[in-house]
Amino acid sequence: METKIVTVQDAALGENILVEAGEILRKGGLVAFPTETVYGLGGDALNPESSKKIYAAKGRPSDNPLIVHICCMEDLQKIAVEIPKEAYALAEAFWPGPMTMVLKKSPLVPYETTGGLDTVAVRMPNHPVALALIEKSGGFIAAPSANTSGRPSPTSAKYVEEDLYGRIEMIIDGGFVGIGLESTIVDVTVTPPQILRPGYVTERMLQQVCGQVAWDEAIVHVESGKAPRAPGMKYRHYAPKGELVVVRGENKRVVDYINQCTDAAESAGERTGVIATRENASLYHAKVVHVAGAAGDEEEIARNLYDILRRFDEEGVTRIYSEEFSSDGLGQAIMNRLLKAAGQRIVDLSEKSS
Ligand code: TXA
Ligand code: MG
Repeated sequence: METKIVTVQDAALGENILVEAGEILRKGGLVAFPTETVYGLGGDALNPESSKKIYAAKGRPSDNPLIVHICCMEDLQKIAVEIPKEAYALAEAFWPGPMTMVLKKSPLVPYETTGGLDTVAVRMPNHPVALALIEKSGGFIAAPSANTSGRPSPTSAKYVEEDLYGRIEMIIDGGFVGIGLESTIVDVTVTPPQILRPGYVTERMLQQVCGQVAWDEAIVHVESGKAPRAPGMKYRHYAPKGELVVVRGENKRVVDYINQCTDAAESAGERTGVIATRENASLYHAKVVHVAGAAGDEEEIARNLYDILRRFDEEGVTRIYSEEFSSDGLGQAIMNRLLKAAGQRIVDLSEKSS
């Protein structure tokens, strides 16, 4: 299949292209598009054949449900039922934006889209191109992140092209995304609402709206081996091709330890890489050192993380060490993704562990 690649920086200027993209979706085709979190791979959420095509294009297991993207509040009641009042409060606070809610699905949503579940994940993205496309496609776009299964989610159209060229009808290039990590997922079918995946909308922000919130135990205690309630969270995901290890501890010890490891690995013929804070970057010996951001600047680190993981692949790095970043606020999402990319491998040099 020929994949048409178009650039739309401005929804109004790109009107004609978005109409064409909307037509592709209405006819059951697939279009990748920018959102404020990561690029999505879109299909008509109400068409079971489109959802099957999404799974095939991504190489994704079909028991892993898709998020349905909407562009206006009125459409929520068409795809969800028994919507609790917390859901309206959360939507009011965070939509359009990087928050996805799990709700009971209406009969309109095919099981192909929900991976066989009776619930549906719904999000209203905060991106003018995404919102215009949803509207032009009929209102309901099922969209997982636009990467092939197992790779980091794409933060620019270049990475979508790398993974999906020739497998989908169109890629809409809207430049780099703003946030860089996937949306927060909150299950509002349970009381209190439960965080199934951390994201830009933090635990604290959710608490401010609905008081108490809980966590999916499997996310907090990964070592328990419990199955996460968001089926997609069970996969080793976001992973670069090289082996990644996260190092925790006092700053100087971390830098020294990583240098020892990369020196040894280089001698053994490996190509090494480090994910560093800007403050430490010049201290490392590794072949490739990527700056995630300034220490404590979670927004910058979130925006750069997936791009860095992909660049290590391009650079042929076989062994990667990362500093541990703060795990407060947005840091919860950063560390969740980083540790998943590392297959939970962490070296703990902190005093309390030694
Ligand atoms: O920011 C985002 O959410 C991006 C952009 C494109 O919107 N989308 C995204 O989709 O990250 P995806 O498919 O890569 O991740 C969706 C996650 C998966 O872990 C899936 O298992 C979970 O949401 N999920 C979807 N429907 C669910 C449901 N009904 N119950 C529990 N988890 C669900
Ligand atoms: Mg994904």
